[in-house]
Amino acid sequence: MAEALRVGIAGLGTVGASVARVLRDKAAELTRQCGRDIVVTAVSARDPKRDRGVDLSAATWFEDSVKLAEKAEIDVFVELIGGDEGPARQSVKAALEAGRHVVTANKALLAKHGVALAEIAEKKGVLLNYEAAVAGGIPVIKTMREAMAGNAVTRVFGILNGTCNYILTRMEAEGISFDACLKDAQRLGYAEADPTFDIEGHDTAHKLSILTSLAFGTRIAANDIYMEGIANITQADIRAAADLGYRIKLLGVAQRTESGIEQRVHPTMVPTASVIAQVHGVTNAVAIETDILGELLLSGPGAGGNATASAVIGDIADIAKSRPGFQHAPVFGWPAKELKPYKKAGMRSHAGGYFIRLTVHDRTGVFAAIAKRMADNDISLESIVQQATSAETQEQKTVILVTHETTEAAVRKAVEGITKDGHLTDKPQVIRIERAE
Ligand SMILES: NC(=O)c1ccc[n+]([C@@H]2O[C@H](COP(=O)([O-])OP(=O)(O)OC[C@H]3O[C@@H](n4cnc5c(N)ncnc54)[C@H](OP(=O)(O)O)[C@@H]3O)[C@@H](O)[C@H]2O)c1
Repeated sequence: MAEALRVGIAGLGTVGASVARVLRDKAAELTRQCGRDIVVTAVSARDPKRDRGVDLSAATWFEDSVKLAEKAEIDVFVELIGGDEGPARQSVKAALEAGRHVVTANKALLAKHGVALAEIAEKKGVLLNYEAAVAGGIPVIKTMREAMAGNAVTRVFGILNGTCNYILTRMEAEGISFDACLKDAQRLGYAEADPTFDIEGHDTAHKLSILTSLAFGTRIAANDIYMEGIANITQADIRAAADLGYRIKLLGVAQRTESGIEQRVHPTMVPTASVIAQVHGVTNAVAIETDILGELLLSGPGAGGNATASAVIGDIADIAKSRPGFQHAPVFGWPAKELKPYKKAGMRSHAGGYFIRLTVHDRTGVFAAIAKRMADNDISLESIVQQATSAETQEQKTVILVTHETTEAAVRKAVEGITKDGHLTDKPQVIRIERAE
């Protein structure tokens, strides 16, 4: 049997400790599958005394993860610290430069430095595997990088943040407000004490930037993503969506268009009958649309110790099975140096259907004025519905419009015009509609 694969793990928190436990519990299965043992020979975390729920006394303890990456007797460095700078970045770079394979679950690091790190990995002829960085346990990286050879991707989109999907699912199922759902999610441990990163869409954007690169062979452009979070989604939106045959999801979407590539993260209406609309709670999903395959949807657990460890261990097992001299798949599908610059398609040119909810003064002529603003901007309407006066006041009405395909620029202009006309009593709500099978 080949020599054991020696693994060093930096970071023994939710994911790191799970990886160590599963490597211990599944040692015999992994040896059979990989043709060699996988042993943890070095570890690092902040607190050497903390009980990690697994005996790591046989592994050498390193106070400094960079030292572990450089000096430990390991073949693979597994980075599970987190963060886009500091010890995570330094130790991953050090491990690659020392010619060691790297496995990481760190989307923030890859979104910011992924291409530079991939260049080092490819120069050194080592693997940089990151299956757990996007959609946790769902094997989307391997699917896109290896299983879809020859396919040209036209669009990739997904539910990439479990916290947001949990909140939207409960808002719809129980009719409760965003704030109440968020508080409950925090109490149950589904949302961080500071949830900004999740609910404003940053986490989804990081993951999307990696998928975009894999889909279109472009350099990662995490700062070029249009982003809107879910904090202003109300019960009125959710109920109106349901009446119209839609469900609201926070999607990350990357799409090739005539003017470039769109990268956008925002609340989105998807048809209730579509497969992605059935993805509830903390579950994640990624849909990949290609010229040969059509639309493929992968769904499953996007976070959590064991689910994420499953992806990390799959990456480690791939390294255990790889043979010296064998040409590895490039980190982002194409050699890092050949990744094309990202050509951004401006949001104003985005084409699609729109849901617009307006709260207006209840007076004559308002309905006609709204319809005129739409017509002036060449927006054709699929429906325009005036809803019953709200319970609180007899002086305002809700108007809900659904457009046929139009552009973002036209919708923004029309809504600006309606606002200027002075008919609105509240901020207009605009939600994009996404085509989904
Ligand atoms: N949790 C998930 O469900 C999930 C899902 C997908 C991806 N990820 C990614 O996986 C990574 C780890 O996440 P996590 O949830 O496991 O985080 P976590 O529970 O906060 O664990 C972080 C670990 O890093 C250690 N650490 C912090 N600073 C360090 C340093 N300077 N040197 C060495 N170790 C250090 C901590 O040590 P102490 O324990 O001693 O404090 C802790 O063990 C992140 O990149 C995250 O984005 C997580």
